[in-house]
Amino acid sequence: MKVDVIAKRPAKGDLVEFAAQGSKPLPGVAPAEFDGGALSTLLVRAAGSRTLHVGLGDVKKAAPAPRLLRKAAGTAVKTLLKAGAEEITIALGRHDAPAQVEAVVEGALLAAYKFEAYKAPASRRKNALKRLNLLADPGELARARKAAHAGAVVARSVNLVRDIGNRPPNEITPEALADRARQLARSHKLRCEVWDERRLEKEGFGGIIAVGKGSAVPPRFIVLEYRGPGVKASAKPVAVVGKAITFDTGGISIKPGDRMDEMKFDKMGGCAVLGVLQAVAELKLPLRVVGLIASAENMPGSRAYRPGDIVTAYDGQTIEVLNTDAEGRIVLADALAYAVTHYQPSLIFDMATLTGACVVALGGARAGLFTADEALRQELWSHSEDAGDPVWPLPFGDEYAEQIKSDVALVKNTGGREGGASTAASFLHHWTGGLPWVHLDIAGPAWITKELPYLEKGATGFGVRLIVDHLRRRS
Ligand code: BES
Ligand code: MN
Ligand code: ZN
Repeated sequence: MKVDVIAKRPAKGDLVEFAAQGSKPLPGVAPAEFDGGALSTLLVRAAGSRTLHVGLGDVKKAAPAPRLLRKAAGTAVKTLLKAGAEEITIALGRHDAPAQVEAVVEGALLAAYKFEAYKAPASRRKNALKRLNLLADPGELARARKAAHAGAVVARSVNLVRDIGNRPPNEITPEALADRARQLARSHKLRCEVWDERRLEKEGFGGIIAVGKGSAVPPRFIVLEYRGPGVKASAKPVAVVGKAITFDTGGISIKPGDRMDEMKFDKMGGCAVLGVLQAVAELKLPLRVVGLIASAENMPGSRAYRPGDIVTAYDGQTIEVLNTDAEGRIVLADALAYAVTHYQPSLIFDMATLTGACVVALGGARAGLFTADEALRQELWSHSEDAGDPVWPLPFGDEYAEQIKSDVALVKNTGGREGGASTAASFLHHWTGGLPWVHLDIAGPAWITKELPYLEKGATGFGVRLIVDHLRRRS
């Protein structure tokens, strides 16, 4: 699919125009038909062409917020695809800044994605978006092109994550995920290393080994390294760590059957790491970024780890297992310990569908943001909504760490129901070596069960946009 910025409306395809509420009425259109209300639409047919008007609601500012434009562009593409469109031209606002242009492209490309890999050819949609044009002022072409490119890179990375995420757990095993990482490394000249179960055993990755024990498909640890142009090999990297449980049955502490199928999305943190690496490589950011993915399938079975087991992580710190369903923190312990000892990162991000408690606290729209770094907390919190991945800060630390002290090991892997997202974060904190660290509990927003203006049901790719947004600001 091509994305282009042009100065004149092409002869082919449909046009999209955004309208603020209360702006000049469209010729021949009654206000009751279309008044510019937020995300309202009106399709106008003229001889040989169609124009879709999309309302932006009550926008007073010169440039509408990226979060609004993303929805408006998504609504436009979804509406026009249903009406058979294949080539769409979206008119940009006169003074759209790069952030606005990016949001329009992002919303459009995210809305154009549909997961159909397992559908019979006959029941797949008949038309897909083949070309997206942005109509800009002639004087703005160069600036808009740059922004459109960035928006397309980010959206395609998010769609990659969604596509891996939506695939079923019998396809996306830890090894299949490793294969995706190898592919990404080949196409983007990244360094990639995959550790199999023998190597994990040898290196002392007791957490990933324990969680993967009950499954017939073996666990993997995936390392991806990116170094931007002009960046020294000795530069301290940013580490991006992800939980990728390809299916979480709960193990011996088995989950109830209701909606258990959704636990194929327990890999989304790790999948998002792939998206971040693809985006930073395509944007050629002048940074060093390492992606670390801890992947296993959490199954019950005669070889499965059990409540009562004591597990030793990569750095020698011990974990008393009280509930095999609190497996994410156990695999992350190894990955975080490896990040700290091997890279001494300037910053560690981790993303994980870690706790149901976080969903109870924040619902499905926002991820839990945990960090002791006040400046980072403020920055990520305030930028997250316009970046497209909204977060809200939650606490962790000593009070919560108290709840997970173990009589027989350093920590136990559950601290009871109270403050479950915060005790989980406090657990992870033991493995961060005192380095700057941001934990995102994406259990709520990693997938959706109702469609949004620019996202169909299923995996959302949450986390990619927030982290890439931060890395771009950092570089
Ligand atoms: N993957 C789940 C968390 C989860 C639950 C994500 C629901 C999204 C929706 C995680 O491995 C888990 O099972 N956590 C337990 C922890 C508990 C046993 C301390 C939970 O949240 O119930
Ligand atoms: Mn679990
Ligand atoms: Zn899990």
